[in-house]
Amino acid sequence: MAKKRISKKRDSSILGRRITGSAEETLRLGAEFAKKLKQGDIVFLKGKLGSGKTTFVKGSAKGFGVRGLVRSSSFILVSEYKGRRGRIYHIDLYRLKGNRDFENLGLEEFLFGEGICFVEWADRLDEIPSNYGYIVKFKWLGDNKREIKIKRI
Ligand SMILES: Nc1ncnc2c1ncn2[C@@H]1O[C@H](COP(=O)(O)OP(=O)(O)O)[C@@H](O)[C@H]1O
Ligand SMILES: [Mg+2]
Repeated sequence: MAKKRISKKRDSSILGRRITGSAEETLRLGAEFAKKLKQGDIVFLKGKLGSGKTTFVKGSAKGFGVRGLVRSSSFILVSEYKGRRGRIYHIDLYRLKGNRDFENLGLEEFLFGEGICFVEWADRLDEIPSNYGYIVKFKWLGDNKREIKIKRI
């Protein structure tokens, strides 16, 4: 019997480059982005300190129905949140020294599980696996201005 083909088609309206003029705008973009996410997606966030990664994750979590506070998880490797549409894992690799691979970090169970993963400081990974979601790149352009590029991987 022929295998059933699963359509990989997705809405691409969220992809591309945007400039936000305030933290609130980045929160809103995160919330809009969250609507496109599917269970099992991984979102790799890249960019320097203060470029808006955690702000974006906060917006996404809110859009995903997480109640309560999402903080930067710099001191904890993985924070788990329960949203209306499932679990969210917020992984922050800031404290890692040198580039590492996630197999040695023991992150596979989160990354390749059912929930949606946000990986901050994805720059710290040796390699970013493809076919699992999105890369979101942040750039500081001014006090309140950030460039945010979203691409599928
Ligand atoms: N357009 C903007 N988008 C995101 N954050 C902004 C923006 N303008 C100002 N900010 C401020 O910049 C800081 C971004 O911090 P954060 O999201 O924690 O960055 P990161 O996680 O990349 O280190 C916050 O204090 C936020 O209020
Ligand atoms: Mg952060």
